[in-house]
Amino acid sequence: MIEKIKKDVQTTFAEDPERLTHTYGVLSTALKFQQKYHLDRDKLTIAALLHDITKNEEKKFHTRLIKRHYGKKIIKDYTEPLFHGFSAAAYAKETYGIKDPDILGMIENHVVGKPAMTLYEKVLYISDYIEPNRPYEACKEVRDIAFDSLDEAVYQAMDNSIRLFEEKGGFIPEIAYRARAYYENRIKNKKEAPWINSE
Ligand SMILES: [Fe+2]
Ligand SMILES: [Fe+2]
Repeated sequence: MIEKIKKDVQTTFAEDPERLTHTYGVLSTALKFQQKYHLDRDKLTIAALLHDITKNEEKKFHTRLIKRHYGKKIIKDYTEPLFHGFSAAAYAKETYGIKDPDILGMIENHVVGKPAMTLYEKVLYISDYIEPNRPYEACKEVRDIAFDSLDEAVYQAMDNSIRLFEEKGGFIPEIAYRARAYYENRIKNKKEAPWINSE
């Protein structure tokens, strides 16, 4: 199945080489975490390859898939640029019959994140943020801490993203604030009682 997915990614982004490079950057970054945390290589590979597969589709494409698999609430709570995580997960289900909750969770939550993500979800969220082709300054510091503390990296990435969108006056879904607060708390608790939490 992975070979088939690779061909699909190649065809989908034939005219968008940057997205293709990004996708493979996310894959190589995710596989570094795979070694560190002994995660399932195939699950990470499939999620990394498919995470942005619907990114360049039109609004109608996203809403149709999202309504079919998640209902209307997602359409209400998020805006168009944030739809592609959900539509890509729905695409993975329909095109490849993927049912694995680890894979689907990674794809669904890579854009905004959420409170209490699984280790898999955190790994893909951060790999998407720090992959080597990301040009912006803000991701450098996250890159530096990501392999020491995934939770701190997640918090920093969420905080950076929220601030950036606030500056631009862009839409920020409510779950983004809840997720940031969750990780802020988690880091604080970990510092106070480091023996309680592990990644
Ligand atoms: Fe994405
Ligand atoms: Fe991405």
